[in-house]
Amino acid sequence: MDRRLCLITGASAGIGAEFARQYAALGWDLALSARREDRLKDLADELQDKHGITVICIAQDLARANSADKIITSLSEQGRHVDALVNNAGYGLPGTFFNTSWKSQAEFIRVLYTAPIELAHKVLPGMAERGYGRIINVASLAGYAPGSAGHTLYASVKSGMIKFSESLNAECETLGHTDIHCTALCPGFTYSEFHDVNGTRDSMNKMSKRMWMEAGPVVKAGIDAVNRGQPVVVPGMVNKTIASLTRILPEPLGRAMVGAQSRRYRRID
Ligand SMILES: NC(=O)c1ccc[n+]([C@@H]2O[C@H](COP(=O)([O-])OP(=O)(O)OC[C@H]3O[C@@H](n4cnc5c(N)ncnc54)[C@H](OP(=O)(O)O)[C@@H]3O)[C@@H](O)[C@H]2O)c1
Repeated sequence: MDRRLCLITGASAGIGAEFARQYAALGWDLALSARREDRLKDLADELQDKHGITVICIAQDLARANSADKIITSLSEQGRHVDALVNNAGYGLPGTFFNTSWKSQAEFIRVLYTAPIELAHKVLPGMAERGYGRIINVASLAGYAPGSAGHTLYASVKSGMIKFSESLNAECETLGHTDIHCTALCPGFTYSEFHDVNGTRDSMNKMSKRMWMEAGPVVKAGIDAVNRGQPVVVPGMVNKTIASLTRILPEPLGRAMVGAQSRRYRRID
């Protein structure tokens, strides 16, 4: 029997590369996707040598309308199906909604929202047929917190991913797919290339180190949660505390606190 295969988007860096390392260590085959193929191939070489698994690299830009289709078609042409999907690819769109072109906003929605949901839709029928599936959607603590000015679409898209994951997990239960689970992983600040890419590294460096997590425990929390059938997981005590506060604080107070905090690191230019 083939080893199980995990498809990971955004596997060329940060949290996605860590998902690849952890699933490889668990003995899974991998399909790694992102735009930077050289990075994917380096990681594939490393993990194949270390764990004796098979790694397939699929270079795709998820901002392109047919990218999800191309990824799944490429895998089926190689005779492989997806047992676990990690929808991880993402980035921050700095600046204001007012001053960001519609093209940039539309690409952002495609990469962080439409493409992940389309991938889930494409892999679910096979998972149902085989009676096994895991879907992890990398959302964010920002999807819990009240909205604030700047990077304006980010929280709304992540909040949508949380609701989608909860609903899909419930749907699987309701339909009797007892071993298909979907989880929204909601990290807070995590060491990766995310803040270099969105140009906020300098202001992020001023934040307390207590606010930050390494990718390793973030990813482990996601894998453990989806195996338990838990629809949403917030990794780390500090992040859990923040998530709880956003639920119990009166809304105007929560908005004022998040607004003050995010002015320290969000780029509004
Ligand atoms: N780091 C944090 O503090 C933090 C906190 C909460 C949530 N998150 C979420 O965690 C996820 C991973 O981010 P990260 O922190 O690991 O950032 P990262 O180190 O910058 O990695 C982002 C990954 O997404 C891929 N990607 C970006 N645009 C893409 C596109 N158009 N098509 C295909 N792949 C694309 C990148 O690959 P290529 O550039 O090679 O395409 C890269 O592999 C994101 O969804 C992010 O929103 C991060």
